[in-house]
Amino acid sequence: MSASFNAKEQQTSVPDTGDAPASGINANTVVLGLLVLAVIYFLMPGGKKNKVPSGLNAGQGQRGAAPKAAAEDDDEDSWTAKLKSQDKKAAVFFGSQTGTAQEYALKWAKEARSKFGVSSLVLDPEQVEFNNLDRVPNSKAVVFVMASYGEGEPTDNAEAMMEFLLDEDVQFSHGGSRLDNLNYVIFGLGNTTYAKYNEVARKLDARLEELGANRIGGRGEGDEIAGSEKGYMEWKERMWSEFADRLELEAGAGADIADFSVTEIGRETDNNTYLGELSEHALKVSTGRAPARGIFDAKNPYPSPVIARELFALDGERNCVHLEFDISGTNISYSAGDHIAIWPSNPDMAVERFLSVLGLADKRDVIVDVKALDPTLAAVPFPNPSTYEAIFRNYLELSALASRQTLATLAQFAPTPQARAILERWGSDPEVYDREVDKARLRPAEALQLATGNDPSNPKDAAVWPIPLDRIISLLPRQKPRYYSISSSSKMYPTTVHVTAVVLKYQTPESKMHGDQPRWVYGMGSNFLQSVQENLRYGDLAGANTTIRLEGMPTQTPTYRLKGPRDAHVQGNVLRVPIHIRRSTFRLPANTKVPVIMIGPGTGVAPFRGFVQERVAMARSAKQRKGDAALADWGDMFLFYGCRREDEDFLYRDEWPQYAAELDGKLKIHTAFSRGPERKPDGSKIYVQDLIWNARDALVPAILHHGAFIYICGDAKSMAKEVERCLAQMLADYRGGTLEAEGYEELKNLKDKKRFQTDVWS
Ligand SMILES: Cc1cc2nc3c(=O)[nH]c(=O)nc-3n(C[C@H](O)[C@H](O)[C@H](O)COP(=O)(O)OP(=O)(O)OC[C@H]3O[C@@H](n4cnc5c(N)ncnc54)[C@H](O)[C@@H]3O)c2cc1C
Ligand SMILES: NC(=O)c1ccc[n+]([C@@H]2O[C@H](COP(=O)([O-])OP(=O)(O)OC[C@H]3O[C@@H](n4cnc5c(N)ncnc54)[C@H](OP(=O)(O)O)[C@@H]3O)[C@@H](O)[C@H]2O)c1
Ligand SMILES: Cc1cc2nc3c(=O)[nH]c(=O)nc-3n(C[C@H](O)[C@H](O)[C@H](O)COP(=O)(O)O)c2cc1C
Repeated sequence: MSASFNAKEQQTSVPDTGDAPASGINANTVVLGLLVLAVIYFLMPGGKKNKVPSGLNAGQGQRGAAPKAAAEDDDEDSWTAKLKSQDKKAAVFFGSQTGTAQEYALKWAKEARSKFGVSSLVLDPEQVEFNNLDRVPNSKAVVFVMASYGEGEPTDNAEAMMEFLLDEDVQFSHGGSRLDNLNYVIFGLGNTTYAKYNEVARKLDARLEELGANRIGGRGEGDEIAGSEKGYMEWKERMWSEFADRLELEAGAGADIADFSVTEIGRETDNNTYLGELSEHALKVSTGRAPARGIFDAKNPYPSPVIARELFALDGERNCVHLEFDISGTNISYSAGDHIAIWPSNPDMAVERFLSVLGLADKRDVIVDVKALDPTLAAVPFPNPSTYEAIFRNYLELSALASRQTLATLAQFAPTPQARAILERWGSDPEVYDREVDKARLRPAEALQLATGNDPSNPKDAAVWPIPLDRIISLLPRQKPRYYSISSSSKMYPTTVHVTAVVLKYQTPESKMHGDQPRWVYGMGSNFLQSVQENLRYGDLAGANTTIRLEGMPTQTPTYRLKGPRDAHVQGNVLRVPIHIRRSTFRLPANTKVPVIMIGPGTGVAPFRGFVQERVAMARSAKQRKGDAALADWGDMFLFYGCRREDEDFLYRDEWPQYAAELDGKLKIHTAFSRGPERKPDGSKIYVQDLIWNARDALVPAILHHGAFIYICGDAKSMAKEVERCLAQMLADYRGGTLEAEGYEELKNLKDKKRFQTDVWS
């Protein structure tokens, strides 16, 4: 949890009467006490939710959760005062963990500017006071762009704001509990595969209504599965119309204003030029100005030595890799159940395509200095000065689907009227966009190439689009790390972090844009890991960007420049990849007597390899201390694992028997081979939930009478839901009740007690 505490704010909340309180404790003592509490709060272990740590503007300020004493005037540094003094029309708050909600907050603010010429403050709720929502004049609005996590919980940076607003005794700066004067706009970001879809935006909306605030437009909701942009586009028309009416704004009063200035400053790199380094420390290390040692975290990822091997490779279409990151000699630690964030670079093909489409191929090594023109709206999202090539290789996300709005914006730069018409159609007609862009999974530069009739299989075959770099920076998200469930235990492997990654490759449906043919799409991060594995295995690391073509592989397999900025990621035979660890709450019970039920088909088995290793390491030391019978009273570890075929994709098949032996039979593995010879009586596939159902006579008593912990990991779209239903059904049957009351309700109770935990993705 990235919580901070505003000691200064607490000081100002002490009434300055000049009298000592009746208790005899004077104001200074109170302040000191609060400071001590603040320090304790700061030092408390964080991370109560299963989500990625927020990397948003950390350390730029502090939040103030406590209501201030009533005062007539705004503190001139407060956001409400700035709204007034800087003549801003809106304050845009974002609750964001991995940046999407922040991107949408910026998108909203930029649209407000270009439509109506109004300026906004984009704010991280963690950095400001929000008890003064009652001070926002009726001529302005507050916008909330909120992502949901876990069981519909807020992101770290919105936690305090949500807690404050949902408090039934909420009190605002003037002492009241109403927000009758407040105009608000609300857009939620979520994913329909999670049970509590967009819960945060829904809860906040209901609460603001209850407090008397006045919503502008409807509540918007973006679903990652359907495409968050779709929800935004469908929502925004009515919202903008009501926004203009409520704030008495005139459409067309705005202009298309740049967010950044970009200055080319030559080709001579020096120690201040970022060539893909992710932090100032990384730049200092790669230019020999700092030792490799440092404090490594999300802001300064560690370029970790890595080794890798193939777990399976089937028909050149399905691959799974095992990687081990060496964290010895660093401040990095981890626990079984945590996640690792891996920072890949973009594939050569995507980098080349972008440089060609923008006409920058010959200027790839030109250094540019990028500055934010309105820092209250948009900060430069990457370190610079940097070269064109490094910006496209390391700092911008090139593999996300081309959004409708991006295409609509880029139409004005089309090199031909025909290309312009194509982009305008994609931008304005959702059905055409769905059919021609979404279904074909076109990335932005591919879309531009296709619109000018070029051949997307050749990244250099491109008509030049004269799009200024500042527009590209405004339109494309910052390159994000990819998260993986750690598949080792630090008790067994204290100096290495293991990852089990399936390589994402899929075929799109046939599309008009590709001559009515399907095409292969490659996941950016997982193919980077595959490339790491291949280079370590077959490659010449000295030239770690060489193209490797394996027998049977589709011809467009992406290649990557693995050598990193200034070749800092290759030294001799050692290859390095930037990583950081994110804490999670996905944890084994500390008490080894407690049984655990682990359900993880496919790569969902990753954290359970860590859990099993954890108990094996504990078993070894227990046996040393207590002798051979040390595990007699240990609880069972049930592992439900599924894959397609026993002899094809059974992950860590050779390791499990050894672990089971060391656990004296406490590890009970149930395997479902969905495409093996065995079938259910009706001929359908056997999945993990079928095995769970068959084992219910052992599992239900373990859950209800022996305090068993249940874990699900892997696919959120269908597996996790079906397994949950199966668990609910067997609990309901055992209790002789209904699926809802004795089934799902019981699971909810278990979740509340942290005895039912999920680590799922889609
Ligand atoms: C908490 C967490 C833990 C994870 N743990 C693991 C793990 O242990 N092992 C593991 O292998 N992965 C894990 N993942 C997934 C991993 O983070 C990446 O998402 C995955 O490797 C794909 O990344 P990529 O960069 O290769 O794909 P990207 O280039 O980011 O492409 C992914 C995009 O492709 C879309 N997509 C995927 N398949 C299709 C399809 N058939 N048709 C159309 N669109 C499609 C997805 O919806 C997504 O938008 C985890 C994810 C999370 C959030
Ligand atoms: N978003 C992403 O970028 C991304 C990346 C990687 C993985 N994933 C998701 O993560 C999941 C795990 O991937 P993986 O490759 O490791 O696994 P996988 O090999 O695709 O699946 C593992 C096993 O689960 C089975 N299965 C399929 N549907 C199921 C269901 N509804 N209930 C229970 N079991 C089911 C599969 O059977 P059959 O295949 O025979 O039906 C297979 O035997 C996949 O579902 C995938 O969607 C997403
Ligand atoms: C671990 C995890 C848990 C999530 N839980 C939920 C959830 O409970 N409800 C929901 O609607 N979306 C959920 N999501 C989807 C996120 O809200 C969605 O990805 C959103 O776009 C993230 O925004 P951000 O990048 O600003 O953090 C979850 C995503 C992850 C990775």
